[in-house]
Amino acid sequence: MMVETLSLGRFHHQRLDFKRWIPAFLTSHKTLFTCLWIVAFVSVFVWQRNLSDGFFLFGRVPVRPMPKLRPIAFNLTDFGAVGDGITVNTEAFERAVSTISKFGKKGGGQLNVPPGRWLTAPFNLTSHMTLFLAEDAVILGIQDEKHWPLMPPLPSYGYGREHIGPRYGSLIHGQNLKDVVITGHNGTINGQGQTWWKKYRQKLLNHTRGPLVQIMWSSDIVITNITLRDSPFWTLHPYDCKNVTVKNVTILAPVFEAPNTDGIDPDSCEDMLIEDCYISVGDDAIAIKSGWDQYGIAYGRPSTNIVIRNLVVRSMVSAGISIGSEMSGGVSNVTVENVLVWQSRRAVRIKTAPGRGGYVREITYRNLTFDNVRVGVVIKTDYNEHPDAGYDPQALPVLKDISFTTVHGQGVRVPVRIHGSEEIPVRNVTFRDFSVGTTYKKKRIFQCAFVHGRVIGTIFPAPCENLDRYNEQGELVKRSASQNVTDIDYDI
Ligand SMILES: *[C@@H]1O[C@H](CO)[C@@H](O)[C@H](O)[C@H]1NC(C)=O
Ligand SMILES: *[C@@H]1O[C@H](CO)[C@@H](O)[C@H](O)[C@H]1NC(C)=O
Ligand SMILES: *[C@@H]1O[C@H](CO)[C@@H](O)[C@H](O)[C@H]1NC(C)=O
Ligand SMILES: *[C@@H]1O[C@H](CO)[C@@H](O)[C@H](O)[C@H]1NC(C)=O
Ligand SMILES: *[C@@H]1O[C@H](CO)[C@@H](O)[C@H](O)[C@H]1NC(C)=O
Ligand SMILES: *[C@@H]1O[C@H](CO)[C@@H](O)[C@H](O)[C@H]1NC(C)=O
Ligand SMILES: *[C@@H]1O[C@H](CO)[C@@H](O)[C@H](O)[C@H]1NC(C)=O
Ligand SMILES: *[C@@H]1O[C@H](CO)[C@@H](O)[C@H](O)[C@H]1NC(C)=O
Ligand SMILES: *[C@@H]1O[C@H](CO)[C@@H](O)[C@H](O)[C@H]1NC(C)=O
Ligand SMILES: *[C@@H]1O[C@H](CO)[C@@H](O)[C@H](O)[C@H]1NC(C)=O
Ligand SMILES: *[C@@H]1O[C@H](CO)[C@@H](O)[C@H](O)[C@H]1NC(C)=O
Repeated sequence: MMVETLSLGRFHHQRLDFKRWIPAFLTSHKTLFTCLWIVAFVSVFVWQRNLSDGFFLFGRVPVRPMPKLRPIAFNLTDFGAVGDGITVNTEAFERAVSTISKFGKKGGGQLNVPPGRWLTAPFNLTSHMTLFLAEDAVILGIQDEKHWPLMPPLPSYGYGREHIGPRYGSLIHGQNLKDVVITGHNGTINGQGQTWWKKYRQKLLNHTRGPLVQIMWSSDIVITNITLRDSPFWTLHPYDCKNVTVKNVTILAPVFEAPNTDGIDPDSCEDMLIEDCYISVGDDAIAIKSGWDQYGIAYGRPSTNIVIRNLVVRSMVSAGISIGSEMSGGVSNVTVENVLVWQSRRAVRIKTAPGRGGYVREITYRNLTFDNVRVGVVIKTDYNEHPDAGYDPQALPVLKDISFTTVHGQGVRVPVRIHGSEEIPVRNVTFRDFSVGTTYKKKRIFQCAFVHGRVIGTIFPAPCENLDRYNEQGELVKRSASQNVTDIDYDI
């Protein structure tokens, strides 16, 4: 309503201006009338259009006022920043953060990033801070890796993920913080990952690439109403955090040739909610993790109490929602619901290997839709990628208590591939109300090995023989005689 009133005001104002501007050659009343009529018609048309867009008239820059969410708010330009896409604004960001850090006891401070292209090297956030990105505000990551500081490896990984030793920090970084909000009117944080991906492929980098946003050892984190794109590496990486909410965030990277651009990687995190997001990236849209082999086991911090809901995700290279493969601290109590996975290689996947240790348990998938995915449900227990030879092959992960309820879709080649092994059997798996349209007319497309569990009611396509069959009333119809038989076929 306020926008309408404002626009109306502008509209009258503009029309008056038009009257003043009527050129002298319009002498005849008829021409004048026709012109006025056209002007009025066009004005009303433009006004209508702009109203629906929430924009003001005649191509004016839409300056949607930024709400004040903290007792004190600063403008990035107050610190000398220039949003021309060329000036490097690292010092402005650092000064702003340092200023805001002084207001922690008074409810914190807000940093408004106005429309513009704000190039910067990595910088740190502070506690009790809100970073607010206006509509058309873009924070751009500087591409030259010389400006990216190196940080020690994550303790639960022992290494940078790709190289031994230190790793690049993240563009927007925070550690040991409390109460941090990154939000806006759908402004963008753009990592300009293209140069990183190219250098990675050409093996020109000596250290693991940095994430776009990484928050470590922190609590009460809220990330909403923004767009994250083209991260050099994982996009959003909350590490050993508690109480994290990610809501209404768009995450984008090219679906091919943007290596390891995972969307969101909750890593040893507790109490995390991810909802109402659109994610289309070059690796897993979401991958829940908790450390890597002996380093993750020693660190011993699980990812737990995680809710993921109301998402649309796409991954042509990896999977929509993954757990692992680094899960050595354990992953438990995860709910994934109301998720559409489209045009993807895999929909939902749990991946692990001997050496990981830890567990994946109490995982609930509910109301999933698969639309043109190659493999729907995947559990893989031989994802043999290890940090070094020091891992313990006897450290066997436990996979159990996993349920799939209400899974539908179409265009799926292999609906289920649960590849347990003698060492790592998959226990207590439940399928209920599962029916997906398939693209492949072959018998064994619901594939299992070393799986223990049940199907309840009618399942399509026909489930593997490894699972017990119950009717809708929960009565046993047929007990499986062969939980360990293998009909895994990677050629399909
Ligand atoms: C921030 O500063 C810029 C440049 O001085 C100005 O155009 C803009 O209106 C300011 N924005 C806010 C929200 O104060
Ligand atoms: C950010 O903080 C970390 C941890 O205190 C520090 O190692 C790093 O150098 C800081 N990064 C920048 C760009 O100041
Ligand atoms: C999501 O963010 C957009 C852009 O900021 C906003 O217009 C929309 O209202 C938000 N939706 C919700 C549900 O918060
Ligand atoms: C936010 O911006 C992204 C990228 O420009 C766009 O794809 C998305 O639809 C926008 N989200 C909303 C809610 O307007
Ligand atoms: C990687 O190391 C090599 C050898 O020390 C050096 O020549 C090269 O500049 C380094 N590359 C980067 C991106 O730091
Ligand atoms: C979680 O964080 C939000 C946002 O800072 C806060 O409002 C809420 O009180 C926190 N919840 C708990 C249980 O601490
Ligand atoms: C997201 O944006 C919408 C629309 O501007 C707003 O109503 C909502 O409060 C915002 N959400 C958060 C959590 O900031
Ligand atoms: C599982 O996680 C949900 C959501 O975070 C939480 O409400 C619930 O209490 C957790 N359950 C257990 C057994 O911890
Ligand atoms: C199931 O998820 C879809 C989104 O994929 C949503 O539109 C629908 O409302 C959900 N159904 C239920 C019963 O929650
Ligand atoms: C099997 O898993 C379900 C959840 O999927 C759980 O409710 C049930 O208690 C588990 N059964 C056993 C025997 O642990
Ligand atoms: C199936 O394999 C599991 C785990 O490897 C083992 O405990 C069980 O005895 C095997 N069952 C049969 C019938 O061989």
